[in-house]
Amino acid sequence: MIGRLNHVAVVVPDLAAAAARYRDLLGASVSGPHALPEHGVTVVFVDLPNTRIELLEPLGDHSPVREFLGRNPAGGMHHICYEVADIRAARDRLAAAGARILGGGEPRPGAHGKPVLFLHPKDFCGTLIELEEA
Ligand code: CO
Repeated sequence: MIGRLNHVAVVVPDLAAAAARYRDLLGASVSGPHALPEHGVTVVFVDLPNTRIELLEPLGDHSPVREFLGRNPAGGMHHICYEVADIRAARDRLAAAGARILGGGEPRPGAHGKPVLFLHPKDFCGTLIELEEA
C-alpha cells in the first residue's frame, strides 16, 4: 500500500543553524525558510537525490511541534512521510485493522497542499507516520 518515502521531518530549535549544518557540513541543497502559519511551523527543505528532509522550527504559540522540542531540546526526528495512491482507501484499511488515525481521521491539506493523515506512533514501532496522497 505505501509507496515512495516522501520526506523525513526533523524538528530543530534553530532553523538557520540547522540549514547551515546541512548545507555547509553535509553539502546538501537546502531551500530558504518557508513560513507555514496554518501548520505552526517554518520549514526548510533539504533536497536529496531520492527523497527530502524537512527541517521544522515551531512558529507561533500553538505550534504542534513546540511540545516535542520541549521534550527534545536539541531537536530530533519527528515523523516519516510515505506516499499512498488513495488516502481514504488507506485510512479505511488501517482503521479496519485497528490502527489509530490521529485527528479524527479526515485527511487535511499538508505542508505540500496534498491531503495527509497521521498514524499513532504506538501502532507503528514508536514512529509517527504521515501518509500523503501522491
Ligand atoms: Co511531514
